[in-house]
Amino acid sequence: EETSKGEYPHYMRKEIEMQDVSLANAIQGRIDDDGTTPDLDPFPPGTFAAIERIQFVACGTSFHAAKYGAQLLNNAGIPAQSFRASEYDDSIPVDEQTLVVAVTQSGETADTLRAFECAASGGARTVAVTNVVGSTAAREADDALFIRAGPEIGVAATKTFSSQVVVLSLLAHRVSADVADVAPWDDPAAFYDALERLPEDVRTVLDRGDAERVAEEFLGSDAFFFIGRGPGYPVAIEGALKFKEITYEHAEGFAAGELKHGPLALVTPRTPVFTVVTGDDNGTTVTNAEEAQTRGAPIVAVSAPGHRIDDVADASLQIPASHPDLAGLLANVQLQLLSYHTADRLGRAIDKPRNLAKSVTVE
Ligand code: G6P
Repeated sequence: EETSKGEYPHYMRKEIEMQDVSLANAIQGRIDDDGTTPDLDPFPPGTFAAIERIQFVACGTSFHAAKYGAQLLNNAGIPAQSFRASEYDDSIPVDEQTLVVAVTQSGETADTLRAFECAASGGARTVAVTNVVGSTAAREADDALFIRAGPEIGVAATKTFSSQVVVLSLLAHRVSADVADVAPWDDPAAFYDALERLPEDVRTVLDRGDAERVAEEFLGSDAFFFIGRGPGYPVAIEGALKFKEITYEHAEGFAAGELKHGPLALVTPRTPVFTVVTGDDNGTTVTNAEEAQTRGAPIVAVSAPGHRIDDVADASLQIPASHPDLAGLLANVQLQLLSYHTADRLGRAIDKPRNLAKSVTVE
């Protein structure tokens, strides 16, 4: 059952649609009974007491999840950096107080494994966050944390991104609780409430139908831009990556504040700007969207209702109100659907895009 398309026209569609289930699996049994701390096997409380900094190494979509995870840790006051694995080498300082986390769906990506080896030989403690039990990354790491997303057949990663984000957020909470000198996480109950509601919120997004309409409306555009800030930034670059992978259309993701430093030169009435807003940022992202709109670009808000972006936007991809740490995940599901419906209308080979492989085992 798990490896058949069933009633769906593509594996990717099935994998997007089943995210309420895969996320419930990722969360299952991993929240402590008090509802405010993680219960994360194999990491009992105190596991990371000696850790001073975290580095993530990953490629492609997994890199975007890693970047999201690093943001959450930084917000909690823990030094964290994400590296594209192909750019990681022994010039990057590590020591025994450094936790290096490889984020890799397959556990077999050559660049990620090489970066991981490099970190281990520098003395770092290593954790693999992966979907595949028995994968090379899981075997080579000091410890492995499984995302339990089930098999992902479509080349473009969808459900594994969402599950990576959830598992990395739990890992971030574990590390933050263990490390001394770090202030306790602000209102953890609010986060865990939202986490328990997440499968339901994802279902709400999946059942909306606005992504299909928006995909249709902007078909034939010259290019597709995605912007966001904070946790919205990894979502913007992931949205653009998914879009280019499966539609073959020109798509780019930018930090919202960087638009004015170059990309605005590309903006025209034929370049929709998908604006991811994950929380209250004092309206700066709205201002950035307005800068593009003044040059004629249609603005598509990817946000919860009632945000100021709604007053500006020409169209919207709505998400339910959630916790700011999880809103980006919900926004990303809307962008997965947007890419899927656009690619479907264009008749693309959605499950096996040209020139791409599910797992890249060469450097
Ligand atoms: C390939 C796939 C991507 C994936 C990347 C990293 O490029 O096409 O979808 O994000 O590898 O894969 P990993 O298995 O390490 O997450």
